[in-house]
Amino acid sequence: MDHPRCDATVAWKALQGHFEAHGRELDLREAFARDPARFDAFTLQAPEVFADLSKNRWDLMTRQLLVDLARECGLEARRDAMLAGEPINTTEGRAVLHTALRAPPGEGLFSDEVHGVLDRLLAFAESVRDTATSGITDVVNIGIGGSDLGPQMVVPALQSIVHPGLRFHFVSNVDGHDIDPVLRRLDARTTLFIVASKTFTTQETMANAAVARAWFLAQGGTDIGRHFVGATTNLAAAAEFGIHTTFGFWDWVGGRYSLWSAIGLPIAIAIGSEHFRALLAGAHAMDRHFATAPLESNLPVQLGLLDVWYRNFHRFTSRSVAPYHQGLKRLPAYLQQLEMESNGKCVDLDGQPLPFGTSPVVWGEPGTNGQHAYFQMLHQGTDVIPVEFIAVKTPSHAHAGLQSKALANCLAQSQALMLGKTTEAALVEKAPTASASLGKLTVARHRTFPGNRPSTTLLLEALTPRALGALIAMYEHRVFTSGALWGINSFDQWGVELGKALAGALLPRLEGTGPVDVTGLDASTAGLLRRLRA
Ligand code: F6P
Repeated sequence: MDHPRCDATVAWKALQGHFEAHGRELDLREAFARDPARFDAFTLQAPEVFADLSKNRWDLMTRQLLVDLARECGLEARRDAMLAGEPINTTEGRAVLHTALRAPPGEGLFSDEVHGVLDRLLAFAESVRDTATSGITDVVNIGIGGSDLGPQMVVPALQSIVHPGLRFHFVSNVDGHDIDPVLRRLDARTTLFIVASKTFTTQETMANAAVARAWFLAQGGTDIGRHFVGATTNLAAAAEFGIHTTFGFWDWVGGRYSLWSAIGLPIAIAIGSEHFRALLAGAHAMDRHFATAPLESNLPVQLGLLDVWYRNFHRFTSRSVAPYHQGLKRLPAYLQQLEMESNGKCVDLDGQPLPFGTSPVVWGEPGTNGQHAYFQMLHQGTDVIPVEFIAVKTPSHAHAGLQSKALANCLAQSQALMLGKTTEAALVEKAPTASASLGKLTVARHRTFPGNRPSTTLLLEALTPRALGALIAMYEHRVFTSGALWGINSFDQWGVELGKALAGALLPRLEGTGPVDVTGLDASTAGLLRRLRA
């Protein structure tokens, strides 16, 4: 490694001392009471995203030491290396250049190639959107992981500007319960299938694409070349499948960073070329912010540093994401891949085992639904789980009464998490639904909230393509930041290989017709296999 790992720095030691002295016990209520300027000190305006970081368990010294840590770990140099196209994905010997996909013409690396594909992709998207001529009513994206989660998140997020004459379907799972109900709703004559796979070898996608092609032919479909298109880096394999219209991308685009590439085709068809370009422009604005803003006021950097503080000092193991916008219902799933596939690693760049925690579990649901499910645990459970609220000021519907209720709930939840409620306060409250057979103090204890539970609130003016682009890019760079400090490769995903290989080995045993072959299997797998074959 060219730069020290976080735990080999002076700042890390200083942070350990600071945590013991002022971090572990920091009380947010006292911190706000002590410092009337705390909100101003811990809020940031980045392109399209305003962030309130003040309800987090840190102080100015924590932040300074974390910035020192970032500098000592060479965060700026690592960032610049990524942006310059150096092969920072060392285990695969690849550059990491998703930022080049959203740079304006002439500005980024590989600009001619990028804009050549983009222009062609957008022209194709417009031709599909011209439904009177294309005759298309349904677009089915067949892909998984990064070839699914981005489009599947963005299309509903921008629902208000989605082409009203087109329906969008996403098939990812190799479980036939995914594709089957979709096919039942389709007419082969008016359906466009997008086979989205960077490698064009992924088992799930290839199997579903084969099912779709067989269905298409069985329905009397005749022109596979017109009804199937591909988004892939493997143009030869797509051609072998029978796909003639392909949109390529490059090995320097990681799967989970690929919605800006040809993988974004369903998005481009859904929202049109102008809005797709706005999505890219929003991401580019965040890229510029990440590349140039001082670390102290750099939003993705600040979020990444806070992640390190929480994971390695407070030892929090998860983070919950609560978007108070129903359109962002798939954002938590998208972020799971982005963060957990990127930073769920246990060795550093040199292959040395890490003595500290890396990726937290990222999970969540849109508010207010989550409030009626797991927020109980966030408020009164035994674990502290930082929550990330996402609020959108101006909705894309006209139900003002609903919008103000959603926003009031969003603010109230972060307030309640922080303020809590003392047993004394609970004692003097009325609790009409509490059992009369219990003593007052017992009831009050059940109604006590510890408080001091941290949260971040991200605020968007409106969920426009530009704002969404900036928000996603912010998350990408945040993941980069924590990964860089941990000294890991955030851009490979060897952890998915073993299960793939074992599934490949089990498949013939499951599909076989003779006696079940359990040679070499552990007793549990053998037992389950026997039951499935019985
Ligand atoms: O889950 C592993 C993975 O390689 C992801 O990183 C990727 O997004 C997904 O599989 C799909 O891969 P492909 O686009 O090659 O089908």
